[in-house]
Amino acid sequence: MIEIKNIIKGFADKTVINDVSAILETGKCNLIIGASGSGKTVLMKCIVGLFEPDSGEILYDGDSFTSMNDENRKALRQQIGMLFQGSALFDSMTVEQNVMFPLDMFTKLNLKQKHEKVNEVLARVNLTGANNKFPSEISGGMKKRVGIARAIVLNPKFLFCDEPNSGLDPKTSLVIDKLIKEITTEYGMTTVVNTHDMNSVMEIGDKIIFMHQGHKEWEGTNHDIIFSKNEELNKFIFASDFLQDAKDMRMLEARGKISDDRNMDEMIGPS
Ligand SMILES: Nc1ncnc2c1ncn2[C@@H]1O[C@H](COP(=O)(O)OP(=O)(O)O)[C@@H](O)[C@H]1O
Ligand SMILES: [Mg+2]
Repeated sequence: MIEIKNIIKGFADKTVINDVSAILETGKCNLIIGASGSGKTVLMKCIVGLFEPDSGEILYDGDSFTSMNDENRKALRQQIGMLFQGSALFDSMTVEQNVMFPLDMFTKLNLKQKHEKVNEVLARVNLTGANNKFPSEISGGMKKRVGIARAIVLNPKFLFCDEPNSGLDPKTSLVIDKLIKEITTEYGMTTVVNTHDMNSVMEIGDKIIFMHQGHKEWEGTNHDIIFSKNEELNKFIFASDFLQDAKDMRMLEARGKISDDRNMDEMIGPS
C-alpha cells in the first residue's frame, strides 16, 4: 500500500499538485486519470521520488519515503518497476539485453540465472523467442510488452505505468491493460497507472483517482463512475453526447433492476 499525504508541488510560481492525498491499494490497479496537463505525471514522479514534493509525505507500506535516508531510498527504488511513456527501450540493445539491464545493474545473478529470469518474464508477456530482436524490428504493442517485462524483472512490489497505451490502437491497448491487470493480481503488486484512456478506466479501474487542475477531484471505482454526479468527472469521462446517452441508459437499467428487486420483495415478502 502506498499512502500519499497532502502532496504539494509547484514549478516557479505555479502550483501543479495542490494538496493531494490518496491511498493506492495492494493487488489493485490504481488509476490516476484526468485531462492532459491535470498533473498525473508530476504526481507519479513525486510518488516515485523523481520529483521532490514541496510538502507532504509518501509512505510505502508504512515507511516514510519522504524522510528516508539515501540508502533506504535506494533499497526501496529496487522494489519499484516503472513503465515509461513511450517504453524508453535502448534502441541499440536487443529485447533480451533491454530486459536483462536491471538484472545487470542491481543483482549478482550469474549469466545462466539472468537468462532464465529474462525468459521467464518474456514468456509472461507473450514474447517467448523475441530475445534477439531490436526495438526497431518490433511493433508498438510489443515494445510496451518488453517495457513491462523489464519493469517486472526484479519482482517489484510496486509498478508504475505512465500512459501505457499512448500510441497504441484500441485492441492492442486492451491487451496491454489486461496484461497489467493480470500481473498485478498474480504478483500481488501495488500498481499505479496514469491514463486518459476511457477503455482502461472501465476495464482495469479497481480504484480511480480523478485529477482536475492539480487537485484530486473525485475517487471511486469503475462502477461508481456510472452513477457519479461529479460534474467535472462527467465532463471528462462522458465527453461526447453518445457516451452521455450510454451512461443515462446504464443508470435507467440499474434503476429498473432495483425496482424489479423491490417488486420481488413485495411478492415474496420480507425474508
Ligand atoms: N518540469 C516541469 N517544469 C514546469 N512545469 C511543469 C513541469 N512538468 C510539468 N509541468 C506542468 O505541470 C502541469 C501538469 O503536467 P503533467 O503532470 O505532465 O500533466 P499530465 O501528465 O496530467 O498530462 C502542466 O501544466 C505542466 O505544464
Ligand atoms: Mg502525463
